[in-house]
Amino acid sequence: MKTLVIAGGTDGIGKALAERHLDRGDTVFVIGRNPAKGRAYLERAERHGAADRARFVTADLSLLAQTSAAVDEITREASSVDALVLCARHYQYRRTVTAEGYEENFALFYLSRYLLGHGLVESLRKAERPVVVNVAGPGAGLGVVRWDDLQLRHGYHGGAALGQGGKLNDLLGVAFAERYGATTGIRYVLIHPGVTATGFSGVYDAETLEHIRSMQQHAKPVSAALPPIVAALDDPPADPLTAFVEGQRIRVDTHGFDRAAAGRLDSITEQLLTRS
Ligand SMILES: NC(=O)c1ccc[n+]([C@@H]2O[C@H](COP(=O)([O-])OP(=O)(O)OC[C@H]3O[C@@H](n4cnc5c(N)ncnc54)[C@H](OP(=O)(O)O)[C@@H]3O)[C@@H](O)[C@H]2O)c1
Repeated sequence: MKTLVIAGGTDGIGKALAERHLDRGDTVFVIGRNPAKGRAYLERAERHGAADRARFVTADLSLLAQTSAAVDEITREASSVDALVLCARHYQYRRTVTAEGYEENFALFYLSRYLLGHGLVESLRKAERPVVVNVAGPGAGLGVVRWDDLQLRHGYHGGAALGQGGKLNDLLGVAFAERYGATTGIRYVLIHPGVTATGFSGVYDAETLEHIRSMQQHAKPVSAALPPIVAALDDPPADPLTAFVEGQRIRVDTHGFDRAAAGRLDSITEQLLTRS
């Protein structure tokens, strides 16, 4: 039986994965900020006779301190981690800055994924076939990355923030695989699930909300988004870095996965984290 850590496992795709793996006999740490949803997860586990394998780690992942505390808690409690699944994201139609001074989308969608992946390396490397599955939106070019304004101080738009976050996660995957792929055996898998009917966690302006409501009606159900993610978890690909869009493997030697850009982002991130 495996041990999984699912960030953003209280809703949508992450929640469905958490329940699937718990029902299959795995141990599942769900990281989330909402205590009521955490309780619901633990109560469901109890009803299904899985209370001893379900853990809820409370953390607002837009805050570095809470993300690091979650890493510490999981490191203490789990002897090894087979899979880390990254699903947390939250739309903000207005630029929002966290109590630690970071633009919220950058902190949650990118920095928390950086910290969770790097922070759990030692726990992952103890597993037989460890894998990080970063559910975001791989594949497009790097045109949306504003290198001179990564935290979008100027001309903020919620959609652009999410778009940039997806690209930063592609580069995170490149840098992670380069640093750890050969020495640890950890596989990094970037997955675009396609438009899926979830709660779309976020704060929306009226026009975008209308669009979201329409997507919720017409998008595929969560169950249809799971197979490519489940495949990566059950049988991680052989290559250190892979990317899939709606189940189709895409190349990771294209402009969007540029190694120099990945190295650049990695250095910027290390500097930022050293300062905080
Ligand atoms: N759904 C789609 O159409 C679609 C398309 C492309 C890519 N994706 C990607 O797939 C992944 C999962 O998407 P989804 O639609 O399943 O998400 P979702 O239903 O909107 O759920 C997002 C999850 O993130 C959690 N979260 C938000 N802010 C958080 C914070 N500050 N700290 C901790 N947890 C936080 C939410 O917790 P709360 O319940 O507490 O809010 C929830 O569990 C995302 O990375 C997304 O980018 C989704």
